[in-house]
Amino acid sequence: MAESIRFAQAGDVQQIMALEQGSIAHPWPEEDVRRLITDDEKFALVLEAEDQTITGYIGVSVVVGEASVGNLVVAADQRGKGFGTKLVEALIEELMSRGAEVIFLEVEDTNTPAVSVYTGRGFEEYNRRRDYYGAGRDAILMKRALAGV
Ligand SMILES: CC(C)(COP(=O)(O)OP(=O)(O)OC[C@H]1O[C@@H](n2cnc3c(N)ncnc32)[C@H](O)[C@@H]1OP(=O)(O)O)[C@@H](O)C(=O)NCCC(=O)NCCS
Repeated sequence: MAESIRFAQAGDVQQIMALEQGSIAHPWPEEDVRRLITDDEKFALVLEAEDQTITGYIGVSVVVGEASVGNLVVAADQRGKGFGTKLVEALIEELMSRGAEVIFLEVEDTNTPAVSVYTGRGFEEYNRRRDYYGAGRDAILMKRALAGV
């Protein structure tokens, strides 16, 4: 496979914004995406195709060993090829190497592809927020313990 995963850099912000705007009901403001790259306690991984197009990304913040996934996006025309899963696997590996203890995230209960990606990589539901995304649209709160826990 010609795709590779690497840390996001400042020059990636516009492509990440394009992914956000093409995929998310409420895209992140550019400033928040930029902070994933500049803030000490945050980072993002990007999936880069052979032609250097960024076709996916995952953003996370890590505070005293607790990681929180901010967003995960794969370009609409690249979904269903395992890339979302690969980004989550790469994130888990990176966080384990940093000694993080647990990863938390929130996902809408109707978002079957995202829930599949997370449950397939060991995330478990630990709570729900009713109507978090609007009437009848719950947030599932998920977590995954990392090494030694
Ligand atoms: C969620 C997302 C990142 C998944 O990326 P992806 O590259 O398509 O994921 P994968 O190819 O690794 O597929 C993961 C699983 O979802 C399943 N899946 C993919 N598309 C699906 C669909 N439309 N309906 C149901 N299941 C689907 C796959 O079968 C696979 O399940 P499996 O591992 O049990 O076989 C992608 O759909 C996306 O960018 N969505 C919009 C943004 C979003 O909602 N992000 C999540 C925010 S929490």
